[in-house]
Amino acid sequence: MNDRIRTDIAHNARVWNYWLGGKDNYPVDRAVGDQVTGFYPSIGEVARADRAFLGRAVTLLAAEHGVRQFLDIGTGLPTADNTHEVAQRAAADARIVYVDNDPIVLTHARALLTSAPEGITEYVDADAHDPEKIVAAAGATLDLSRPVAVMMLGILNFVLDTDEARSIVRTLMDAVPAGSYLVLTHPTLEPELGGEGNKDAMAFWNENATPPITARSRAEFASFFDGLDLLDPGIVSCSRWRPASGESAVVAQFGAVGRKP
Ligand SMILES: C[S@@+](CC[C@H](N)C(=O)[O-])C[C@H]1O[C@@H](n2cnc3c(N)ncnc32)[C@H](O)[C@@H]1O
Repeated sequence: MNDRIRTDIAHNARVWNYWLGGKDNYPVDRAVGDQVTGFYPSIGEVARADRAFLGRAVTLLAAEHGVRQFLDIGTGLPTADNTHEVAQRAAADARIVYVDNDPIVLTHARALLTSAPEGITEYVDADAHDPEKIVAAAGATLDLSRPVAVMMLGILNFVLDTDEARSIVRTLMDAVPAGSYLVLTHPTLEPELGGEGNKDAMAFWNENATPPITARSRAEFASFFDGLDLLDPGIVSCSRWRPASGESAVVAQFGAVGRKP
């Protein structure tokens, strides 16, 4: 086993996999996952809504906005409808660079490297706190003079300092040209999204699992999109961002997509 993999403490990528119904997790992940669900019963719904948002956002960008390059930071463990599968369904020549810092995601990365022959997928083992390294590595696969969708779904919440999180987003968006997109989801405690229940769950997580997490307000989430043009419907619960059909229940996870003018 990779000696970076710890089975004595729950890891976010593995617990997220558990909540999504996956099998790539250990007893410690399932125990913490169940305890978090006790504090915050809708967490499984949040994870599913986040993945569904990913599918809708990537499909829209590839099929209707002509995006052919995706930089997916905080990829998570392979699951159904990974970014390259969604993007290449709409545009077979799409290029995808995945980035995560969890050793178990690295171990499973080959399942993400199943590109359509017309496109490319690559995996980079890197930390979001080092955006310059990510840009340099992504540039080996992506043409950074052409538009890129920078995706950070459920990951800026692991950058605890909001100024640093903003600076990471700025570095990444400065490295891509006009016509690029920023795709974000982020947990919140905002009552308008029913987020109050998340407070105890996050406190429990921070005492029992890794990496530590933080929630952000609507204003803090909005600040990541400074200088970008938000696509309709703006900043909403990710479940309410262009839902496929009918009404979907609000979850305490913001979702939005912004375009670099
Ligand atoms: C909540 S999961 C989200 C996975 C996927 N983006 C999704 O929306 O379904 C967060 C992912 O971010 C990764 N992650 C957490 N902190 C990170 C960091 N500092 N650098 C890179 N990846 C990180 C975790 O390993 C995990 O795979």
